[in-house]
Amino acid sequence: MQDKGTFYITTPIYYPSGQMTIGHTYTTVAADTMTRFKRLTGHKAYFLTGTDEHGQKIERRAQETGVPPQQFVDGIVEDTKKLWQLMNIEYDDFIRTTDERHMTIVQRIFRQLYDQGDIYKGAYEGQYCAQCEAFWTQTQLKEGSLCPDCSRPTELVKEESYFFRMSKYQDWLIDYIKNNPDFIQPPSRANEMLHNFLLPGLQDLSVSRTTFKWGVPVDFDPNHIIYVWIDALSNYITALGYGTEDDSLFRTFWPANVQLVGKEIVRFHTIYWPIMLKALGLPLPKQVFGHGWLLFNNDKMSKSKGNVVYPAPVVKRYGADALRYYLMREMLFGSDGNYTNQAMMTRVNSDLANDLGNLLSRTVAMIEKYFDGATPQPKAYLEEDRALITLLEALPQKVEQEMNALQFSQALSEIWKVIGECNRYIDLTLPWVLGRTGEGKERLSTVLYVLAESLRYVTLLISPVMPTTPEKIYEQLGIADENLKTWESLDTFGQLPAGLKVQKGAAIFPRIDIKVDLPLLEEENAQAIAAGKAQPEPEKEPDVLATIEDFQKIKLRTAKVLACEKVEKSDKLLKFRLKVGQEERTVLSGIAQHYKPEDLIGRTLVLLANLPPRKIRGVESQGMLLCAANEDDSVLKLLTVDEGMPDGADIS
Ligand code: ME8
Repeated sequence: MQDKGTFYITTPIYYPSGQMTIGHTYTTVAADTMTRFKRLTGHKAYFLTGTDEHGQKIERRAQETGVPPQQFVDGIVEDTKKLWQLMNIEYDDFIRTTDERHMTIVQRIFRQLYDQGDIYKGAYEGQYCAQCEAFWTQTQLKEGSLCPDCSRPTELVKEESYFFRMSKYQDWLIDYIKNNPDFIQPPSRANEMLHNFLLPGLQDLSVSRTTFKWGVPVDFDPNHIIYVWIDALSNYITALGYGTEDDSLFRTFWPANVQLVGKEIVRFHTIYWPIMLKALGLPLPKQVFGHGWLLFNNDKMSKSKGNVVYPAPVVKRYGADALRYYLMREMLFGSDGNYTNQAMMTRVNSDLANDLGNLLSRTVAMIEKYFDGATPQPKAYLEEDRALITLLEALPQKVEQEMNALQFSQALSEIWKVIGECNRYIDLTLPWVLGRTGEGKERLSTVLYVLAESLRYVTLLISPVMPTTPEKIYEQLGIADENLKTWESLDTFGQLPAGLKVQKGAAIFPRIDIKVDLPLLEEENAQAIAAGKAQPEPEKEPDVLATIEDFQKIKLRTAKVLACEKVEKSDKLLKFRLKVGQEERTVLSGIAQHYKPEDLIGRTLVLLANLPPRKIRGVESQGMLLCAANEDDSVLKLLTVDEGMPDGADIS
């Protein structure tokens, strides 16, 4: 593949003052999606995220919890990394401002700025918001001296402080922003910065504190702690090894192509950060994108209001891809939008279960029914085929254009328009009517080929947003060849070979029963808020080792499936009739989303046979079938034994 150059993307480094919410997840998923997209289209991409661990707020939170600050942040960072793993976030580096590699360079940057006269020592008096760690001028404050960001009371603080001479760079920055219209996106935010902050005149920025200890000390005046923004903003270059002997990453990837931030910190990233870089003689990032907020009932989420949403309960139920899709699809990147579980479920049902899921299951089922499960060879294309093919061939470019503008929602909307067209194409061509006659079957081979190849296009295009779904689709379509999963393979329609063995599988996105699930999900989120613990507890190693005697208490038997059916009114349960040697048993198992009952008849499974019987939905279940599952249960497989083993056999 042609090398299209480098791409460096960053998220803000988040405060580990509490668990990461769906808001933090939003930015991180966007960065991950963009990274995956750039890799898919031939770029060498580098994705940085991390945590902003110093400052008074964290120091206080640690004190409240009764642990030293380092220990406090270590715990949250561990949970954060687990959450990113759960969300399938593949960052290249996770920088922590408590990393030695970061702290040393921050000290050096501070000293350089001081030595060259950009930083000077003075005294500060002003209204300070401890929550946001920001000083505000009288004109910025809300009525009653309240913080303009969080609306909490501010306090008058006077202290000796170092200052950054921002005023010196003001005119340069105004010109830069005016001459580089892509630098601040969306453009409305550039206007806001110019009119609210730059044109009225920049005040010098206080960049050190003497009132707390949890931070990077100024090395030549250790009473002072380097105040949060110089420490925090530098992460984007310290992570690349800037200022160290091995600065090859820095030389390769700086300046960043895009830095994603929430709209509330655009000011820091488009005023202080460019000025810092200019003073250091470094190029500015090509773009800072200030995205909107996820709101909860039109209100900003906040832990103190108890209206935060944590991602883990959603992911546990529906998988990371469903949540990633919803986050990237629902809101325009740049605008605010409400998050509700109900809207998420509705969208998963309509877009993923219905539109995409049904397209796949119908296509595969028809190839199985009419062509013995092998992708047919297409015959001549008719007008209706060509209309769809034209749409598909134009799609990658449209998606690329939207993605390059970080318009995730628009990119997905383009893809779903085509999915809609594919479903309409089925209604138009009436495959089940074609399948009735020999002549019709000729035509049907083209129709089903077009659908399978369309699905291949769509699958690859959704992969940056939904990284685990494609493999499930490829498996059903019988696509194993990696060459069919590249961006180049979308150049021309028709690269899918005929004769691939398709395989019906479980629904890729089972329909959510919103009435049943909504209260359960809300309850799980409420529990997470109450516990202050968003992630499931890490799996602990068993404290006690099992002895052979313990194991002997467990009776495992092979069991042959005589009959299997779905339990009425349940999405999850399958009811089995099993033959276990001389006896027959009824067993219920919650695997309906992973298997079709008819596929299981005749298979030999593994039964835990001496479990006390339990009534589920009025049926007595006499044992448990063993399964293996991954962490979020998105992949779940029944245990079986090699062929030739009769039922009722002992397993030991
Ligand atoms: O500001 N909607 O950290 P932070 C959308 N440490 N995005 C949201 C969100 C929501 N409801 N909630 C959080 C800091 N975010 C500083 C940054 S960078 C050098 C220092 C995302 O933990 C969004 O990206 O408060 C926002 O800017 C960021 O998390 C704030 O994270």
